Amino acid sequence: MLNDKTAIVTGAGTGIGRAIAARLHAEGARVVLAGRRREKLEETASQLGARTRVVPTDVTVPAQVQALAKAAAEFGGGRIDIVVNNAGVMRFAPFEQADEAHWQSLMDVNCWGPRRLMAAALPFMRAAGGSIVNIASIAGEHAFPGAAAYGAAKRALRHISQVLAMEEAAHGIRVNVICPGVVEDTELLQGAVPAERQAAFLQTFAGVHPLGRNGRPDDVADAVLFFASPMSRWITGAVLPLDGGRHLATNRPRVD
Ligand SMILES: NC(=O)c1ccc[n+]([C@@H]2O[C@H](COP(=O)([O-])OP(=O)(O)OC[C@H]3O[C@@H](n4cnc5c(N)ncnc54)[C@H](OP(=O)(O)O)[C@@H]3O)[C@@H](O)[C@H]2O)c1
Repeated sequence: MLNDKTAIVTGAGTGIGRAIAARLHAEGARVVLAGRRREKLEETASQLGARTRVVPTDVTVPAQVQALAKAAAEFGGGRIDIVVNNAGVMRFAPFEQADEAHWQSLMDVNCWGPRRLMAAALPFMRAAGGSIVNIASIAGEHAFPGAAAYGAAKRALRHISQVLAMEEAAHGIRVNVICPGVVEDTELLQGAVPAERQAAFLQTFAGVHPLGRNGRPDDVADAVLFFASPMSRWITGAVLPLDGGRHLATNRPRVD
């Protein structure tokens, strides 16, 4: 579905980003792998093989993001077709303990990072149109204690995406958002609780998703492929809950 398309995937060295890169690559795309740690990106590249390019990038550094877009356009013969803003960090803190540095770091990676890359990539997308897919979170849709900054950054990303979807529709550039629930096999979750409590944590969360399990990186990658491909050609500005139905759950008191 993606032969001759060029895609940038941020956070492509681990977790969901690695699965997204693999999915787009399997459909024929050239994939530019971005993230801070070169060795993780090289691991992904070696799993995928040809049609990949590793471009170590910190999305909080504007010059590096500009260089990423330029390298991707060169790889794509002047064109970027797909941008997946997946890089992200998660930190929780009670409201009063969440200081300016906490807020700034979460906004910088999760909101300004995608904004920087979209701004840098758009000039290379307008001639032929394309698809931008932004990975937000269920934490931007619902109120989780401790997640004011993380959730606000993801909610802002959702809003920016929808405004951009309106602004760029005339150029054939679609912008869509995916809001995952708990996704296993990611560094983000592994960092959320100590190793000895991982199993219990994952088991507890499996139960809050109506479909009865946590998500896997491939679950997200398949949805990204849908938005990146012509299968979604008449969809822009959409916000997809990808969470085993968790967004439907109500906080019902126990009655038994
Ligand atoms: N796992 C979940 O339950 C879950 C749920 C909802 C949403 N999400 C979202 O899904 C996305 C992917 O996360 P994940 O779950 O796959 O966790 P992950 O394995 O920790 O992946 C995050 C990726 O982002 C990269 N990254 C972090 N800071 C960066 C920066 N400043 N510049 C460039 N890259 C940076 C990391 O690579 P480097 O450290 O090498 O830079 C890493 O590869 C995130 O946006 C996250 O918020 C995850």
